[in-house]
Amino acid sequence: TVLVVDFGAQYAQLIARRVRECHVYSEIVPSTMPVEEMLAKKPKAIILSGGPSSVYAEGAPQADSALFETGVPTFGICYGFQAMVQSLGGAVARTGHSEFGRTRLDVVGDTVLFKGLPEQQSVWMSHGDSVAEAPEGFRVIGSTAGTPVAAIENPERGLYGVQFHPEVLHSEHGQAVLRHFLYEGAGCRPNWTMVNIVEEQVERIRAQVGSKRVICGLSGGVDSAVAAALVQRAVGDQLTCVFVDHGLLRKGEAEQVEKDFVAATGVSLKVVDAQERFLDALAGATDPEDKRKIIGREFIRVFEQAAREVVAEAGESDESVEFLVQGTLYPDIVESGGGTGTANIKSHHNVGGLPDDLQFQLVEPLRELFKDEVRRVGEELGLPAEMVWRQPFPGPGLGIRIIGEVTRERLDILREADAIAREELSRAGLDRDIWQCPVVLLADVRSVGVQGDGRTYGHPVVLRPVTSEDAMTADWARVPYDVLATISNRITNEVREINRVTLDVTSKPPGTIEWE
Ligand code: XMP
Repeated sequence: TVLVVDFGAQYAQLIARRVRECHVYSEIVPSTMPVEEMLAKKPKAIILSGGPSSVYAEGAPQADSALFETGVPTFGICYGFQAMVQSLGGAVARTGHSEFGRTRLDVVGDTVLFKGLPEQQSVWMSHGDSVAEAPEGFRVIGSTAGTPVAAIENPERGLYGVQFHPEVLHSEHGQAVLRHFLYEGAGCRPNWTMVNIVEEQVERIRAQVGSKRVICGLSGGVDSAVAAALVQRAVGDQLTCVFVDHGLLRKGEAEQVEKDFVAATGVSLKVVDAQERFLDALAGATDPEDKRKIIGREFIRVFEQAAREVVAEAGESDESVEFLVQGTLYPDIVESGGGTGTANIKSHHNVGGLPDDLQFQLVEPLRELFKDEVRRVGEELGLPAEMVWRQPFPGPGLGIRIIGEVTRERLDILREADAIAREELSRAGLDRDIWQCPVVLLADVRSVGVQGDGRTYGHPVVLRPVTSEDAMTADWARVPYDVLATISNRITNEVREINRVTLDVTSKPPGTIEWE
């Protein structure tokens, strides 16, 4: 394990991911964790993340000086670098001028961190204070115009530090610097691979579940599919998956779950066709939050009923159903306050809130993984690519992409238009550039058009392609005009009820990604 000590910056998760991209397992711990406790995790290396802009700032987290006496190779980044310097008797100066953004760094080549890398490289800086003097015994191995001491190392003591952010892509050779620290500086081996992750999780699931039965709700999304596939790999027929078909998925997605996923995993699947029920419940609802509530409520009711049936079928034998699979990811755990304790089930999570008399223990085989790792585990397990690489899709599905009342006919129209947009964006190779592209049906709006010899009076759809890192903010994607033209032509030609295609060019904020 490599510990990434989080000094409260947004960079700790990114560092942890970069370490794992070097095939070394990493875990984030808060800077308040006692050093003893960190050592109990037997780390091969410790990385101190960036943090607030100044070690002198009020309430700035302190680095325990014991951190640098552990004998465990340690790498300080940005704030972590300054904290290291300060603790070891160097000097951090409040220079008053800050460096921010892309900066040229001059490095010494015959060093652990920079061996084999160009002597001039572009790095990403974001700091106020600067290190004025390296602690005794350290060699200064990098500098910029504004920061004479921008990188230091002391290989004998296993201590390294850089002012820049090697974890961001703007730092040209950042990943190599990190890799050099891990492999050369700390002797880590690249053994965190997808094969190992799968084997380890399979072992753990077996140990946790024993001969009991497990239930898992599939949503059509990546996380529940990969979690289910892992559990299936571990305990086979002890797992029953439940798929509630609420009729709000996109074209082909229900079939993907019912056919492709089952074929790939051999999972035993209970499909509940609840399309009528959801349509009935949604009849007359037009307010977005009402729709969400209705869909959430119905989902839990249907899932609960299915779960009772699975439990009843298993009976009171040794093989009673005692476990529920959840697709909780590592960022959910970190964000809810650290690596221990029970997971908090997000309110929009599809299978939260089961009643008390259905008590399950949770199986969370993805709780150590980042999203990109979940996808690669999915590939390793042979899941369909469309499922593994599916872009984010809201739990309430197409229900919140029809502006107005949700009806079967409107769902069918939207499904067709959405399928065309997805197909053309994929054909243009844009899947990985675009975060997601809602297609929104303005069901209560009509517009006049002309097609063939006749006047039409149909509905507009809105294309909402966005780029984003995390859905918190987003920009409208600059999809090439010819791709937009193809999508527009095809939708207006192939979907009879749609005679107009519009493009949403609003960033988030002020617009949200979804229209409802
Ligand atoms: P907004 O529209 O808030 O969306 O910018 C941010 C991200 O969240 C997704 N989203 C939802 N996901 N239940 C979900 O599971 C919901 O009710 C919901 N509303 C929005 C949206 O697709 C985007 O990825």
